Amino acid sequence: MTVDRLQRPAIHVRGLEKSYKELRVLRGVDFEVARGSIFALLGSNGAGKTTVVRILSTLLRADAGTAGVNGFDVATQAADVRESISLTGQFAAVDEILSGRENLVLVARLRHLKDPGRIADDLLARFSLTDAGARRASTYSGGMRRRLDIAMSLIGNPPVVFLDEPTTGLDPQARIEVWQAVRELAAQGTTVLLTTQYLDEAEQLADRIAILHEGRIIVDGTLTELKRLLPPATVEYVEKQPTLEDVFLTLVGDNGKDHTPGTDA
Ligand SMILES: Nc1ncnc2c1ncn2[C@@H]1O[C@H](COP(=O)(O)OP(=O)(O)O)[C@@H](O)[C@H]1O
Ligand SMILES: [Mg+2]
Repeated sequence: MTVDRLQRPAIHVRGLEKSYKELRVLRGVDFEVARGSIFALLGSNGAGKTTVVRILSTLLRADAGTAGVNGFDVATQAADVRESISLTGQFAAVDEILSGRENLVLVARLRHLKDPGRIADDLLARFSLTDAGARRASTYSGGMRRRLDIAMSLIGNPPVVFLDEPTTGLDPQARIEVWQAVRELAAQGTTVLLTTQYLDEAEQLADRIAILHEGRIIVDGTLTELKRLLPPATVEYVEKQPTLEDVFLTLVGDNGKDHTPGTDA
């Protein structure tokens, strides 16, 4: 029943496993994402974040475990899952030759929506692109392009949005602009699962943070809960609260950079 489905979390993942030949990337991943929240899947390069996102968006089949999105099973109800989501990857799907507005109108037309022009104008306004709307996307900065890409992915109002490393490769100003766009999304009730290798991004945006390491979620909680894992360090008379970076490095160890999961059991 629909009511049951809507009472389930926006995303649930249980015992997810995935190997590429001998490389065991996911070794039993569990997490849940509440509706309308921002969830950050944090992990080093090669940890398996994109693999999780590809399974959740039905582009890849898991070897074991279950996953549901918007109450639909990714394996048995793939079409329903696809209608419930949008996926924005690290490499923007923007057509450079078209203007920002034309890009949006095109996607709205492809989705057979009424009044594509109005949809485009609303999204341009929401993502602070109204002034740039008539310009070719090739003239946009990295941050503008990424915002346009996110705006395009929202056409049709999917309840769940996957943002796979939305700010990788962006300069600091552009990152802040994208963060604003992500907050805007969640404020409208959209559930956001974002992957990131940046601790400050998780710290800035996420209601909940899960750290993916060696194929498993090694910790999952709010920023406050994660920080409570480490005792505050007392320096002279000043109490120094641990940062998310302290927590991450303590849990993952200092070989956390460029980590590729091993093939051992
Ligand atoms: N199609 C594939 N075939 C073989 N190995 C892959 C494939 N896709 C990803 N991998 C490997 O799986 C690991 C996890 O990749 P990925 O999920 O892309 O990590 P992340 O997104 O966290 O950087 C990496 O070691 C990567 O090289
Ligand atoms: Mg990735």
